[in-house]
Amino acid sequence: MTMARTCLSIILAAGEGTRMKSRTSKVLHPVAHLPMVRHVARAALATGADRIAVVVGRNGEAVAAAVRADAPGAEVVEQTERLGTAHAVLAARDVIAEGFDDIVVLFGDTPLIRPETLQRARASLAAGAEVCVVGFRPADPTGYGRLIERDGELVAIREEKDASPAERAIDFCNAGVMAFRGETALQRLQAIGNANAKGEYYLTDLVEITRGDGLSVRAIEAEAFEVAGVDNRQKLAAVEATWQAARRLDAMQDGVTLQDPGSVHFAYDTDIAPDVTIEPNVVFGPGVTIASGAVIHAFCHIEGAAIGPGGTVGPFARLRPGARLDDGAKVGNFCEVKNAELGPGAKVNHLTYIGDARIGAKANIGAGTITCNYDGALKHETIIGAGAFIGSNSALVAPVRVGDEAYVGTGSVVTDDVPDGALAIARERQVTKPDRGRQIIQRNAAAKAAKSPGDAA
Ligand code: UD1
Repeated sequence: MTMARTCLSIILAAGEGTRMKSRTSKVLHPVAHLPMVRHVARAALATGADRIAVVVGRNGEAVAAAVRADAPGAEVVEQTERLGTAHAVLAARDVIAEGFDDIVVLFGDTPLIRPETLQRARASLAAGAEVCVVGFRPADPTGYGRLIERDGELVAIREEKDASPAERAIDFCNAGVMAFRGETALQRLQAIGNANAKGEYYLTDLVEITRGDGLSVRAIEAEAFEVAGVDNRQKLAAVEATWQAARRLDAMQDGVTLQDPGSVHFAYDTDIAPDVTIEPNVVFGPGVTIASGAVIHAFCHIEGAAIGPGGTVGPFARLRPGARLDDGAKVGNFCEVKNAELGPGAKVNHLTYIGDARIGAKANIGAGTITCNYDGALKHETIIGAGAFIGSNSALVAPVRVGDEAYVGTGSVVTDDVPDGALAIARERQVTKPDRGRQIIQRNAAAKAAKSPGDAA
């Protein structure tokens, strides 16, 4: 029913964020590797917003680009002077004038807002309210606008600075999210004045103006965590912690084993199938998918990687963007894999760098192998065939191809292609001199004794 109504979401993102002490706009600071404002835009889209307008301050190009990553058609409007939340909403007056059934105003610095809550606010409009305000009960209401209710109706929002002592005692506060009907909104928004303690145009005054027209205004309650705003680094960390805690719970409910949930950090888009096990201290950057049966051992950093069914990673492994592990492939301790595909059952077990490479099924890459993919200017590819064996401590100088079932002797520096089934050894031959070793040991011991007599060997 609600879905049939058209909807415009206006995201206010003109905040200065001076308390972040950052050259980056406040709303671009990431939570779970996604700029806060994109979390908000995605929540709006998830509730069926037909149109998104973002209100930015000066130099808002980066904010606009971020929102357009999710909502390519987003309208970006500039609020050149920061004169209050109603003034900010009116910066989008041309978009409002296009005519929408519902308008939902959101703050760009409140990234945990849930689509369900926005849906409830819209449902309230569909049920007859002209305005619906999202409220919450913070542990400390100081600084928030208080919601003044009577007989189930919201009669006013009083900002802290304008509130009487009795009003300040109210613990039900304005979260900043407001939904209102679009048809008549412009007229009422334009009627908002700035005769208040801050001299700002308060969006919250829409409540009394709408009530004055004899229309219904409602408040719904959200949980405090989801409407937490971020204006300093401590709050950013707190919101990140809330997001991570919720994501860990979701993962476990979806059948993922987290041996020490609090030490696993997800990105906004980490995609993990059931029956994956994740050991302690694992950090995911964006763009990771993990198929069922995979195991991520302790202390791994994984981003932009796809791990196939039954793959294993770590402990202490780093998968960088473009790492792809097919079924049962294995990347062991102290290995780094970047832009490389490991075929089914391939093994890269110890102390190895694999970059810009394709490794065939069941190939075995010995300890300490390095693909020398970079010549100081360009990157080159290494291809290793199915069933190939690369002896430990080999350097594969790309571009180079090692064929199927080819064998590279330990310690080789491979600069030429190795045909299928061939053995390549590219190192000095061993020289062995009988007794010479013992002589050296004895000579060195004598030299040491002569230098500091009395010292034990
Ligand atoms: C606002 C609400 C208050 C509520 C609180 C919740 C009003 C008048 N007050 O107060 O009732 O409890 O949020 O956090 O709405 N912004 C602009 N342009 C402006 C002014 C603000 O884009 O000219 C944006 C800010 O970037 C921010 C949001 O609007 O994202 C809130 O603005 P702010 O002035 O911080 O409002 P509060 O004082 O927090």
